[in-house]
Amino acid sequence: MCGIVGYIGTQKASPILINGLLRLEYRGYDSAGIGVLENGAISVMKDKGRVNNLYNIDGINDLSGTIGIAHTRWATHGVPSKENAHPHKDNSGEFAVVHNGIIENYNDLRKFLTDKGYNFYSQTDTEVIPNLVHYYYHQDEKDDEQRLLRAVNNACKDLKGSYAIELISKEHPDMMIVVRKDSPLVIGKGYKENYISSDIPAILSFTKDFYLIDDNEIAVLTRENVEFYNDNLEKVDKKLESIEWSATAAEKDGYEDYMLKEIYEQPNAIRETIGSRLPEDGPCYFEDLDFSKEYLSSINKIYIVACGTAMHAGLVGKNMLEKLCKINTEVDIASEFRYRDPIINEKTLCLFISQSGETADTIAALKLAKSKGAKTLAISNVIGSSITREADYSIYTHAGPEIAVASTKAYTSQVVLIAILAIYFAEILESEHYAILKDLKQEVLSLPAKVENALKSNKRIQDFARKVYNEKDMFFLGRGVDQTVALEGSLKLKEISYIHSEAYAAGELKHGPIALVEKGITVVGILTDPKLVEKSISNIQEVITRGAKTFIITNQELPADKFDMIIKVPEVNPLLSPIVSVVPLQLFAYHISKEKGLDVDKPRNLAKSVTVE
Ligand code: G6P
Repeated sequence: MCGIVGYIGTQKASPILINGLLRLEYRGYDSAGIGVLENGAISVMKDKGRVNNLYNIDGINDLSGTIGIAHTRWATHGVPSKENAHPHKDNSGEFAVVHNGIIENYNDLRKFLTDKGYNFYSQTDTEVIPNLVHYYYHQDEKDDEQRLLRAVNNACKDLKGSYAIELISKEHPDMMIVVRKDSPLVIGKGYKENYISSDIPAILSFTKDFYLIDDNEIAVLTRENVEFYNDNLEKVDKKLESIEWSATAAEKDGYEDYMLKEIYEQPNAIRETIGSRLPEDGPCYFEDLDFSKEYLSSINKIYIVACGTAMHAGLVGKNMLEKLCKINTEVDIASEFRYRDPIINEKTLCLFISQSGETADTIAALKLAKSKGAKTLAISNVIGSSITREADYSIYTHAGPEIAVASTKAYTSQVVLIAILAIYFAEILESEHYAILKDLKQEVLSLPAKVENALKSNKRIQDFARKVYNEKDMFFLGRGVDQTVALEGSLKLKEISYIHSEAYAAGELKHGPIALVEKGITVVGILTDPKLVEKSISNIQEVITRGAKTFIITNQELPADKFDMIIKVPEVNPLLSPIVSVVPLQLFAYHISKEKGLDVDKPRNLAKSVTVE
């Protein structure tokens, strides 16, 4: 997804901008560019391809300006090309803009501007923005300090859609304007310098002090100051937030790839997620939640809404909430939920799970649930992210920055957090026996060590991956909670190895997909629920007789000679078993991708944070 970086200060801007873009690479992009203001003009340098290609552009190293904007683009309107890359200037070259998001009414605005004599040189929706600003700037007869601010604000009032915008103007060489609506943006405060970025890790090595700009707010940055305005141009007070993450926490720490590092960080991430929420004696505790028995008893339905891996975490959560709290729980994909007119009222509790907290569909689904009177609770990894600002309540996974596109530690920490939430609800509701909840809490506390243990199978998983990495199709099978893990294992494989795979409830295989099973196919079986293991083995037997290779993840004693490879993981309460059994599946996808020589951290066509619909 597009990324934005900006700098205004006393140092040469271009290296800071390019460095920031490199740190945003994980978001996924197809072109990159920077715009630097110097000697009364804005120099724009941009190209298709990697950020590092910018270094090959003639003159880029000579840019000496100390104010600039930068962008990585992920094509939405118009192909990836130099012309469509950002920054974009207005026709007169007075203003330059980078933009993240989508301007939905850009066709109407283009027509409006074309009628006024403006020309367009790209296929992007973005190009209307600098021209609109130019239009309003020159309509304004008052030439005071706020003229540029007024022009940007007026232009934004015409925009429909989502945007994070940075703008510089050659008429205002000591000022930068940024605006945000439904698209992420943070401002880092330094000494006599200020930074802008789509997210915190990109500028964390420069500053730890951040302003979180809200929707429909405009910030005016000078070297010394950052001032905030609402869309009526009234001043808004903002608190400076300090971020605890160290810049090195976002680096690779000696691992070959971010994904592998993040897989190995899981025991620690889970410890952080648990934090002080499971006191030794006493009930579960959430600093930011104050649910009463009366309210929880009034809930007739819980919706869990999310996308991708976060949605898979929700599937595991459903099981926990239904079993422990006896509340009917439904999981929905955010992009479906938002358009299907779900039955929601004040007796509905809606949970929104999002690692980034910036996924456009999840944010829209949350707004819809709120508008229908539901209580909303966000589960995110990013403090101050959009969903946490929209929701009635927010709780955080505290898993640390996740950089690899394929989510790993975010998934396990999301599942852990929902487990604690379900126990917390059950304790308030008294919907499950005290002794069962007490045991379950001990099991949650044992998870870091069990995940650590599951990681020890890495080498055997790599050996098996070497045998099957050239295959074209795989199946992931499981029953009950194992089926939810099968979905996540299959998604991981698709995402980073480009092997077609499908996840199925093991008992459903014979109703169609078994027709595809033949020699050369690998079937991954997840068999952890003692009540269902025998049944799943029968299903796996059916694929063995049809020539499939079998890779089994289990916590039970199974006959070794029956399967091609068995990975044994520690036993744990079945409600929590996905947190342990997903680990070999993550490593399996990782090693297959490595064997194929692919870019594990930045798979093709995918983005870490999907901030457009
Ligand atoms: C993208 C990412 C996935 C992620 C999904 C939801 O598709 O590639 O890894 O699970 O978005 O992201 P979120 O930040 O909302 O959890």
